[in-house]
Amino acid sequence: MSTPSCPMDWVSGLDIWTDPELHADPYPRYGKLREACPAARSEALGGYWLFSRYEDVLSILQDAGSFSNEVLFVPPIKDPTGRRIPIELDPPEHGQYKKLLARYFSPQRVRALEPATREVARELLAPTRGRPSMEFMAEFAVPLPFRVMMKVFGLPAGDFALLKSWDDAGLREGTSDLALRREATKAARVRLLAYFRELLADRARDTSGEPAGLVDELVRAAHPAGRPLELDELTNICVTLWNASLHTTANVLGNSVVHLSDRPDLRDRLTAEPELIADALEELMRYESIVAQARLVVADTEIAGQPLHKGEFVVTLTGSAGRDERQFDRPDEIDFDRPAKPHLMFGAGVHRCIGSHVARMELRVALEELHRTHPGYRRDPARPPHRHTGLERGTTELHLLLS
Ligand code: HEM
Repeated sequence: MSTPSCPMDWVSGLDIWTDPELHADPYPRYGKLREACPAARSEALGGYWLFSRYEDVLSILQDAGSFSNEVLFVPPIKDPTGRRIPIELDPPEHGQYKKLLARYFSPQRVRALEPATREVARELLAPTRGRPSMEFMAEFAVPLPFRVMMKVFGLPAGDFALLKSWDDAGLREGTSDLALRREATKAARVRLLAYFRELLADRARDTSGEPAGLVDELVRAAHPAGRPLELDELTNICVTLWNASLHTTANVLGNSVVHLSDRPDLRDRLTAEPELIADALEELMRYESIVAQARLVVADTEIAGQPLHKGEFVVTLTGSAGRDERQFDRPDEIDFDRPAKPHLMFGAGVHRCIGSHVARMELRVALEELHRTHPGYRRDPARPPHRHTGLERGTTELHLLLS
């Protein structure tokens, strides 16, 4: 295998999930990669190619014929229950499930969910009124999508503490320690699979009433090929949707408020003109696109002049794509008046995020309610935020002063 010349010696051993410099601030290294090594080769994690320019990331995401979703992490994680539905499937099988699932997350469905989302946001903020400070992640950004998705799925409200404890253990702890995170994620997944399997079996016993959420709708649904859906695949779908919907939304919300709490000018503008929030969020998602996804090369191809061979792994850095100076003017500035250009925060191509409408609504409502309740929030200078970059760029702790 030919290794392209790359002037930075740190690239050949780069572990994308745990590198301390990336955790602290990934953007200087992303900039160097875009400039000097658009197709970078690391021998860490079993070896993979790393792509950092917008155009190359987009080409990979749009080419499901050459790049399979069978591998979303390097080194690959084989799940004992098989490929996750729909995210780890490839066309044409993938499209059948996507068609089935997309209808539950349509703009029309999401509009109906907005009042309940606002209610959750207000309930979470109510105890913080009159207080001098709050820890934004634990008190708001993490529980908000959690409670909204419990409503979407139609889960018993009493299961909140149990589900939340698995999420805390499995998805958010140990984000900079790959082995620990993988173990914890695996344990949480086993518990979630058992939880949803039992719930689905229970709900399938009586399908006579009105469905009370996604779980009830799925047990009544049929596969687009006309056959009934089996308990195994229903369980797999529920756990995949559940996991995909929580920490992603929490991290985008946390990251956005990290920046707004540091820029009173931007915060005040959105407080005065809440109708700008939806567009401002798009700019914040460009500025900090959180997900890095891997792919398995299944047909020989070429990206950024680099031949790629069947069996190799690639990682796309959407966080770097959002800062690509070839695509965006002054990419390191947050500019709410920037002419709209698509970011890759929700992916691209056939695997584009199914939940983007839900996520956008949750994020907008969250900021509207935060700004209404605490218009003067700002970062606590004595307690800097804890941030990480791995599979996702996220925030684990964000202390805000409220008055
Ligand atoms: C701000 C929050 C979110 C972000 C940043 C995000 C990001 C992404 C990205 C980048 C992908 C593409 C993955 C790939 O190409 O391999 C994706 C796919 C997906 N997302 Fe999201 N997501 C968010 C919220 C949600 C929510 C709320 C749901 C709940 C339904 C969800 C469900 C999914 C599913 C099922 C897929 C797989 C789609 C497919 O394979 O066709 N996401 N998401």
